[in-house]
Amino acid sequence: MRPPPPPPEGTLIPFDPRDADFLTDPYPTFAALRALGPVHDHPVLGVPVAVSHAACSEVLRGRDLGRIWVDAEPLAEFPAFNLLHRNSLLEREGPPHDRLRRLVAGAFNRGHTARLEPRVRALAGGLVTTLAERIGTDGSADLIAGVAAVLPVEVIAELLGVPEPERSALRGWSNTIVRMYEPDPGPVRRAAAERASAEFVEALRGLAAHRRRRPGDDLLSDLLDAGPDTDGPLGGPRISDDELVGTAALLLMAGHEATVNVIGNGVLALLRHPEQWRRLRDDPALDATAVEELIRYDPPLQLFERTAVADTTVAGHPVPAGTKIAALLGAAARDPAVFTRPDEFDVARRPNAHLGFGAGVHYCLGAPLARVEVAATLDALRATLPDMRLAAEPPRHPNFVMRGLRELRLASG
Ligand code: HEM
Repeated sequence: MRPPPPPPEGTLIPFDPRDADFLTDPYPTFAALRALGPVHDHPVLGVPVAVSHAACSEVLRGRDLGRIWVDAEPLAEFPAFNLLHRNSLLEREGPPHDRLRRLVAGAFNRGHTARLEPRVRALAGGLVTTLAERIGTDGSADLIAGVAAVLPVEVIAELLGVPEPERSALRGWSNTIVRMYEPDPGPVRRAAAERASAEFVEALRGLAAHRRRRPGDDLLSDLLDAGPDTDGPLGGPRISDDELVGTAALLLMAGHEATVNVIGNGVLALLRHPEQWRRLRDDPALDATAVEELIRYDPPLQLFERTAVADTTVAGHPVPAGTKIAALLGAAARDPAVFTRPDEFDVARRPNAHLGFGAGVHYCLGAPLARVEVAATLDALRATLPDMRLAAEPPRHPNFVMRGLRELRLASG
């Protein structure tokens, strides 16, 4: 019997982003979609999705495609959530984005990544040592709770100069706010996201006022120190109070959630490929390529949306003005047109043109710092837990856009 003809391009292979089996390993579904064509309509997600590397790159770089922020409604119920996002550079386009991005990049480039590196390495070393001690006494310990979820938030707190008493609240605020980015978050999560946003705005306003009076060596102080906007039409401050709050919130959420999940997803990939862990463990020179491969192989951020500001196309698929299209970065990461043996995990992979940090005008501003954090964690594991192994099958968060583990229990020996 002859096999059935392949479905025409654009035919749907439906996947349900809430389905636990799909979330365990979405990559075979992505491969089947990619084989059918670069762009597909998707009724569950409600937007067409680009699945090839080239089409995802077009979505991220397209001049007629932008991140167009639409306030959460009803407006009266989401004042703080909307304030944070309306004033975030990630949610702006054109000259307002470029202006804010220049300011934040300028402040970042005053040496913050280099300033933080020794602190990041010391933190990662200390957290992994405590984890190893717990493994010694209890037989196993959770890398997510003990290391992955702690390090990035500590690093952002250092970056922004958040004092100790407020640090413990940062993680909860960030976790609660980003749940709004999943499809269909529901009324309880939406209300919780607004409450967390309001607390966060209040804390940041207090911190900004404090830094105005007593500047430190942190990024917030550098942003406040950017001087008057002599090029601007009104000559006002370079960064408004709301923009400062929006930027700090963005740095916390962008800089925190993705890094937690790169460490979790990446160490799981190493544990599932012990020969790759041995290779990396025995050769620290592979750290740089390994970090990129950890991000490519199981990306922590699977999907980004854009809205067309004019009629346009992506890989020949029409995207009328005012409609949306999504880039499925998880599918781009395994595209055989760009990566040799894409389903193979190879800590020495080179070249590795993954889109895990995005592309175009919104390319990740924190990529150098994120690389330092992941490399420091790998180095600490190499030094302290060279014989790490998986102690139990890790449970996963039921999220699609932010892909990550709830727990990653390690044993040793
Ligand atoms: C491995 C961890 C990280 C990954 C995978 C990641 C990924 C990304 C991606 C994909 C984007 C682009 C979003 C889009 O195009 O819509 C982005 C933007 C951004 N990221 Fe990251 N990120 C990471 C860590 C960080 C860190 C540590 C920081 C800061 C401390 C940071 C700050 C930002 C900022 C500010 C933007 C917005 C840039 C703009 O809109 O111009 N990220 N990130």
